[in-house]
Amino acid sequence: MDEQKWLQEVSEKIKKKMLPVVKRNAGKIPYNTVDGAYNDYSGDMVGWWTNGFWGGILWQMYNATGEELYKTEAENLEEKLDAVLLNWVAMDHDSGFKWLPTAVVNYRMHGDEKSKNRGILAADNLAGRFNPVGRYIKAWNDRGDGSRAGWAIIDCMMNIPLLYWAYEVTQDPKYMHIATMHADTAMKNFIREDGSVKHIIEFDPQTGEYLKSHGGQGYGHGSSWTRGQTWALYGFTLSYIHTGNEKYLNCAKKVANYFIANTPKDYLIPIDFRQPNEPHLEDSIAAAIAACGMIEIAKYTEGADKTIYHNAAINMLKALDEKRCNWSEDVDHILEECAEGYHTPKKNMSIMYGDYYFIEAIWKLTGQEIFLW
Ligand code: GLY
Repeated sequence: MDEQKWLQEVSEKIKKKMLPVVKRNAGKIPYNTVDGAYNDYSGDMVGWWTNGFWGGILWQMYNATGEELYKTEAENLEEKLDAVLLNWVAMDHDSGFKWLPTAVVNYRMHGDEKSKNRGILAADNLAGRFNPVGRYIKAWNDRGDGSRAGWAIIDCMMNIPLLYWAYEVTQDPKYMHIATMHADTAMKNFIREDGSVKHIIEFDPQTGEYLKSHGGQGYGHGSSWTRGQTWALYGFTLSYIHTGNEKYLNCAKKVANYFIANTPKDYLIPIDFRQPNEPHLEDSIAAAIAACGMIEIAKYTEGADKTIYHNAAINMLKALDEKRCNWSEDVDHILEECAEGYHTPKKNMSIMYGDYYFIEAIWKLTGQEIFLW
């Protein structure tokens, strides 16, 4: 089918499905579906790292349709996240994932000072996690014993755009310095020669010295967790967009080239490019994030390479639409075959932020996106 016609059809399917889904899930912050129905992480789990993505879906839908329900729900969710901002134990490096698709996008769209305040507080907390001798942002929390003070993870490349935004609105260059120092550390230590990406690096938090890498959410040590590849691919692209520094775009392309070279013929992405053939395990979220990153890379690339990145994105999105999307309006999720990681029980399931990135990718290609990052 003609690409534009296909995109219009998918766009219509998303709009038709999301309105009843949001209506029947009003007041919730979904994480995953159970028998096709969303659970709710707005109570004890309000600090969960994915909770901003529901806001992202709501704002993307509002931007594309003007339907007030999406805005009302997004504003309610933004307020619920205040419980996290006031709890230092719940604050971790995922502030970009939580506040860029909620308070910051609301501020960008409507200029509300309350939303700006939330975004800056979150950015200050993220900046406060910076280790100046190792020049990295600490990832997860420990129990106050410093045991994870040296841990940095590739996912954080998607959180540092919160610091680029804070620089933009305050004109204080400290935010830019911290973001680019972290990006430089990540580029030096996480990206292997072949373009594959490590998930976790442990530094000595006293000296900043590189100690070792950990396998993380992939198959094992030295493997290639696909979602980690996409956090790098899209994250370095975003650092290029915010700084204009070509070294970040080149790094993103190196990871994207590795990703394309390892993509299976059916364009369905495994949890890890180095996992055994059996069992067959996929992560549709990785496909959707990779598509978003490659669409952005294509914008800043000319000639044959531009077509390669664009087509790689289209092929993955078409495979998801044909084989991994559930378009029934009675089922809450869109994407199927999503996975938290290789060794966790939460595999072969539907996780809400996969839907976010799928919608973002389709919106990018149809001119309906509000840029969140
Ligand atoms: N940022 C955590 C994950 O990708 O699962």
